Amino acid sequence: MVIETKATHVRRLSVRQLSKSFPGVRALSGVDLDVQGGEVVAVIGENGAGKSTLMKILAGVQSPDQGQILWDGHPVSFANTRQAMEQGIVLIHQELNLCDNLNVAENLFLGNYPSRGGLIDFWGMYRLARKSLEKVGLNVSPRLPLSRLSLGQQQMVEIAKALSIDAKILIFDEPTSSLSNPEAEALFRLIQDLKARGVGIVYISHRLSEVMKLADRVVVLRDGQNAGELPRSEVSHERMVKLMIGRDVSKLYVRQKNAIGDEVLRVDNLRTMAWPQHASSFHVRRGELVGIAGLVGAGRSELLRSIFGIDRSLGGTVRVGGQSLSLGSPQAAMNAGLGFVPEDRKKEGLVLESSVARNVGLAGLARNAFWGGWLNGRQELADTRQAMTDMRIKTPSPWQLVKFLSGGNQQKVVMGKWLALSPKVLLMDEPTRGVDIGAKQEIYQLMENLAAQGRGVLFVSSELEEIIGIADRVLVMHEGRLAGEVSGDQITEHAIMQLATGGSL
Ligand SMILES: Nc1ncnc2c1ncn2[C@@H]1O[C@H](COP(=O)(O)OP(=O)(O)OP(=O)(O)O)[C@@H](O)[C@H]1O
Ligand SMILES: [Mg+2]
Repeated sequence: MVIETKATHVRRLSVRQLSKSFPGVRALSGVDLDVQGGEVVAVIGENGAGKSTLMKILAGVQSPDQGQILWDGHPVSFANTRQAMEQGIVLIHQELNLCDNLNVAENLFLGNYPSRGGLIDFWGMYRLARKSLEKVGLNVSPRLPLSRLSLGQQQMVEIAKALSIDAKILIFDEPTSSLSNPEAEALFRLIQDLKARGVGIVYISHRLSEVMKLADRVVVLRDGQNAGELPRSEVSHERMVKLMIGRDVSKLYVRQKNAIGDEVLRVDNLRTMAWPQHASSFHVRRGELVGIAGLVGAGRSELLRSIFGIDRSLGGTVRVGGQSLSLGSPQAAMNAGLGFVPEDRKKEGLVLESSVARNVGLAGLARNAFWGGWLNGRQELADTRQAMTDMRIKTPSPWQLVKFLSGGNQQKVVMGKWLALSPKVLLMDEPTRGVDIGAKQEIYQLMENLAAQGRGVLFVSSELEEIIGIADRVLVMHEGRLAGEVSGDQITEHAIMQLATGGSL
């Protein structure tokens, strides 16, 4: 018996010999890519390799200088995102693309409000919004202002927005960098589901374990060119890294034995706005790398932000090198020798409209300014060049505007800015979010170097592997309080998860 299946038409998006330059940067040159309905193609590469640029061109955000886009074999060109969307090609951006001052539903339907008789149909809008939020498993009210959502939740809103359009090709540019583990798991299920329904997926990530889990094929970009391709059967961590950066980074965590010295940061009974009922006390010593682990929402970022004075705190004391700090003032915190690499670099870490040099110099303004108020431009430039080499920041010059750098390179600028100040204690919130594996290794090395110089590092990370790999001691938070502490050989995934989920050791 012959079972006849109706051949459904498989859509195919192809890119041929695509090139794109920006002043001083050749972002893409002669790139090819294919993706068809029902497959997941991962695109990987170092920071600045051209991944986001390629995707923006596919989605009509930017136009190529040269080359062709073929949709089902026919040449197409998209003058804007709307035209790409009409063909069913949707990009979920690396940096979120939502409006803070609108609510969830308004964001979902931005520019596309359901209407009745020429008026916005609010009732219908909220009903539809609830439906699309359900699809991505996001359980929040569509009337909530977007600013009240966590980064991860905002990401889910963006995904829900893409799904409300009948997407044929869905492009995810580093979707999990701001998701919690359960949120990421939910996303992976969603991707499998979309794939089964014939949607083609392009998936960009620096997390190679995710790539291994999801990808049917891995395409590697390097310096704006195709560096190779691996079918699922040939995908391994090692081969991906080799193709991406051409050197071995199997030793991601190279621990140094640093002499642990006196206490350099002391926090007593600190109470944050987010969790007023809990008071936190702990210390960091010179030469020590202290990690803060916990589930998303456990209060880790709030703790760092209160120490640095970005968030108001409700009580407690912070001492840096024995000196008590007046709380609630980042300026006072900086003067006392604290540095802070925030989680949301776009909002807090950088001035996007300024140059790399000015951003690196910003934290050091107090030091670099002459009494007459003139900037010490030479110091700024020297610091910047140092940061550019130390961290391998990919930019055509120190004067390039930060908004033109790739996501990972922006993160490196934030790091460079604080390193230039040589703080006594560096607070870091998700220090390696969005950076490639080579840069990760460099950031860990920089953290080690700080410790070796007798400075303290206090960092929050959601990547357990990273915490286990680099911390001398781990503070674990659960629902706003310090649930426990582990150090040395006690630092295991099991111990951390146990404490993070409210258990005991
Ligand atoms: N609008 C722009 N103006 C100038 N240069 C740009 C612009 N957009 C991107 N670039 C440059 O093009 C190169 C490729 O950037 P792209 O954002 O595509 O990298 P990426 O692979 O996505 O990196 P990451 O992993 O860090 O996100 C980088 O050197 C970047 O600085
Ligand atoms: Mg990118």
